[in-house]
Amino acid sequence: MNILGIETSCDETSAAVVRPNGTILANLVYSQAQLHASYGGVVPEAASRDHLRKLPPLVEEALHTAQIDWSDIGAVAVTCGPGLIGPLLVGVSYAKGLSWTCAVPLLGVNHLAAHLFAHWLAYPEIEPPFLGLIVSGGHTSLVHVASWDAFRVIGATRDDAAGEALDKFGRQVGLGYPAGPRIDALAAAGNPAAVSLPRPLLDTGLDMSFAGLKTAAVYWLREHSSFSLEDLCASYLEAVVEVLTVKAFRAARMVDLEHIAVVGGVAANSRLREAFTRQAAEREVQVHFPPVALCTDNAAMVAAYGYHRLQSEGQGDTLRLRPEAGLTLRD
Ligand code: KG4
Ligand code: ZN
Repeated sequence: MNILGIETSCDETSAAVVRPNGTILANLVYSQAQLHASYGGVVPEAASRDHLRKLPPLVEEALHTAQIDWSDIGAVAVTCGPGLIGPLLVGVSYAKGLSWTCAVPLLGVNHLAAHLFAHWLAYPEIEPPFLGLIVSGGHTSLVHVASWDAFRVIGATRDDAAGEALDKFGRQVGLGYPAGPRIDALAAAGNPAAVSLPRPLLDTGLDMSFAGLKTAAVYWLREHSSFSLEDLCASYLEAVVEVLTVKAFRAARMVDLEHIAVVGGVAANSRLREAFTRQAAEREVQVHFPPVALCTDNAAMVAAYGYHRLQSEGQGDTLRLRPEAGLTLRD
């Protein structure tokens, strides 16, 4: 059995072939970052058109890489939300056509739950219960993963996602889009204590807020014309990382979990990995980061979750499947 995964929720077109045991035969990702770079963020219509152009040849390439034929596909899993409605429609419509012509089950997959399955692909032996931290460009949530069928959101950002806070700050200082990886590199050469920035909601609860940090950085930039970009990036990143670290370890303590799985694009960040690893060493908690290629948007995680759903529910979705831009983990 080969599961074909399709991901088009934002600005990455991805096609993957995954085996039921989690072996990844292909996981191809085409990033539209260059297309959107000059706008400083994703342009939804341009993203939809580009997915439409790139998805069919990318699926063919994935089959070629996996050395399988159309007739070897046993199920099609596709992200059906949350995300941009146009890009989601392209992926879901294509997947519907494919499931019909190949006569195989269709699985509409929640993108956030799929991010958690990156952990399953990387560390199948570390089973729930664990605390999931989904930290990406669109989402920042602390999830109590009691089993692979029971997700409970116990904390989340009240405004910007952590990746969004990095990208918006990056735009202010001319780093282009997405700014996360550039901030990562610049921060490595800077002093994280150089600029004093706020850590909103740090001392209370599990919810987070990054909008105030972004605004504080904007005000700081208005008052300072000459500064070290490395120091500023390091200080800004440090504020984001400290909030995420404190909240995640607090959550793990509150719900008594010994494992934390960090997933989503921002989980690629080296400073975040370092801070979590150091905290874990000081406490009775183990932290797991999937490899970077499984942290950022990819279709292998979509295929993995789709297969799990097929196994536990015994059937796929009908052709009535509709993409939902605002899908949450609770849906
Ligand atoms: O999971 P993802 O690929 O897409 C969403 O579902 O949002 O995450 C993209 C986010 C962007 O905000 C990007 O700037 C951030 O992940 N990102 C990073 C790094 N690599 C990607 N942020 C910090 N450091 C990185 N190395
Ligand atoms: Zn994502």
